[in-house]
Amino acid sequence: MTHDVTVDLGDRSYPIRIGSGILDTLGDACKAAGLTGRCLIVSDENVAPLYADTVFQTLEKAGFDPVLEVLPAGEPTKCQAQLMNLYAKAAETRLDRKCFMVALGGGVIGDLTGFAAASWLRGIQFVQVPTSLLAMVDSSVGGKTGINIPAGKNLVGAFHQPELVMVDLDTLKTLPERELAAGMSEVVKYGVIWDEELFQSLEAGSTGGQSFFQCSEKNRGADSGCLGKIISKCCEIKAEVVRQDEREGGLRGILNFGHTLGHAIENAAGYGEYLHGEAVAIGMVYAARLSVALKGLLVEESDRIENLLAALALPVAAPGPQGLRRGRLAWSDLRAAMAVDKKTVGGLPKFVLADRIGHVDFGCEVPEELMEEVWNGIGQ
Ligand code: NAD
Ligand code: GLY
Repeated sequence: MTHDVTVDLGDRSYPIRIGSGILDTLGDACKAAGLTGRCLIVSDENVAPLYADTVFQTLEKAGFDPVLEVLPAGEPTKCQAQLMNLYAKAAETRLDRKCFMVALGGGVIGDLTGFAAASWLRGIQFVQVPTSLLAMVDSSVGGKTGINIPAGKNLVGAFHQPELVMVDLDTLKTLPERELAAGMSEVVKYGVIWDEELFQSLEAGSTGGQSFFQCSEKNRGADSGCLGKIISKCCEIKAEVVRQDEREGGLRGILNFGHTLGHAIENAAGYGEYLHGEAVAIGMVYAARLSVALKGLLVEESDRIENLLAALALPVAAPGPQGLRRGRLAWSDLRAAMAVDKKTVGGLPKFVLADRIGHVDFGCEVPEELMEEVWNGIGQ
């Protein structure tokens, strides 16, 4: 059984198809979406051995002419060199304007391939086939594409919507636990920014001595299971936010809860040291504490956010001196990274802050001393 969530953007609307064991229907879905010609499937070295054959075959069977490019796995791949590599592959395979790309993997492959599609020949079509939880609930939906540069996270990119997002829940069966936890970080985000009920259900799943993962383990891949429901709910929330504000003129900014510090941590620690979801988890604890100081968020609610993240096996504090290959994160490095964050205007970083679980404001400014003081409070 499949469940479609529509991202309603007028004549650029597209479905997010969610189900179990649906990867081999991708070819027909691409045909139904009106795609034609040759397609460049981009994947990484972890995902390709598991799923590229199925994707290749379903596309071939549906009459497409697929070509596969496999990149190294991990955040450092979301870079200029790999983008150039994809352009070279597109040129070599004569990918013309009637052709398309397929991003098969996590958010790294999705963001990079989406940006390659947005820029190759000034823009060709592409399809997202997210295989990590984080990509299913967040990065594959909404059309943000891009790469990191040494100066900062996601600083180069484009809005470019996919034609289709195909979520096969069965692919989660092979996702490592640490990556699953990182994806849950963005799930918690949706609870805090939009949906208190979702937040409560996550809390209920992570208490009683049984972690959410233990409870969800048997349901991985089952569309009737808790992960399937959670993924659908998150996609519905993201689709609604993107429908209202595709280009982040305002509301879409709420999706950045925890990301101002999170992106700075990823940059300052070195891309790949922290998983994106892990850095965002620390960023959400930080944002929650700022919210207590500035937005009247109750301390108990801030604690609930922190406790839930900890129960989901996510980091909630800055690492001690031995915690990182490069030593403890220095505030000065984080602050410098924040200064070039996309959300920063005139050198002043902007934050998403909560007044209660389920409701946040975007574009909030925070006094300099408070930024550092709260960081020192979560640093060890
Ligand atoms: P990722 O793409 O690195 O994937 C995580 C790891 O899991 C990789 O090693 C990958 O090979 C592996 N993997 C993925 N699916 C697998 C599967 N089914 N089985 C086995 N291994 C699998 O990272 P991610 O967490 O998916 O995405 C993080 C990226 O997404 C960051 O760059 C972040 O900035 C970006 N992001 C973008 C948006 C957006 O709106 N565009 C939103 C959130 C995050
Ligand atoms: N993940 C932030 C956004 O899509 O806007």
